[in-house]
Amino acid sequence: MAIYEIQHPLVKHKMGLMRKAELSTKSFRELAQEVATLLTYEATKDFELEHTSVEGWCGKVVVQKIAGKKVTVVPILRAGIGMLDGVLALIPGAKVSAVGIARNEETLQADTYLKKLAGEIDQRMAIIIDPMLATGGSLIATIDMLKAAGCKDIRALTLVSAPEGIAKVTTAHPDVDIYTAAIDQCLNEDGYIIPGLGDAGDRLFGTR
Ligand code: URA
Repeated sequence: MAIYEIQHPLVKHKMGLMRKAELSTKSFRELAQEVATLLTYEATKDFELEHTSVEGWCGKVVVQKIAGKKVTVVPILRAGIGMLDGVLALIPGAKVSAVGIARNEETLQADTYLKKLAGEIDQRMAIIIDPMLATGGSLIATIDMLKAAGCKDIRALTLVSAPEGIAKVTTAHPDVDIYTAAIDQCLNEDGYIIPGLGDAGDRLFGTR
């Protein structure tokens, strides 16, 4: 697995804006989608192209198109929804596979409460989206689920990642690439990323 911390100035700038605690829900939401778009640009750089031709204004022109790549975007509910439109802005034809995972407070395991996967998922590249890679539990459970469904090309986009979560995902799934806007310092005792963004779901949905 490779972890790519995106160094683009626009990503750095927008993440700096998102860290401000007093930001409005509207601005936080917009910035999350914008950063998701920039991460998508980076995560799709290896898509293969093939030649085709179109009828241009002065005759036939040889152009390039993405070579038959089927994609499913996989938001981990609820916060992953906050990045969805940003990804679809660049891959509008992608199917969306929604996954709901909650921590069981008794077993401390990640329990799946929703699994609505796109058809022919075994033939698709899966792009998982979740703003915060904290302990890694939800991401690992989602990758487990996608692999069990036959997915072979899986990547993940996150806004902020904690070193602890990165290490866990790396160990469990060394073949999955993660594109993140920031690698932060650590997790606190409550499982929040420091300095992080706070509760990304609450900030996206205005529920704090
Ligand atoms: N989920 C969040 O929303 N924030 C964190 O810091 C960790 C997990």
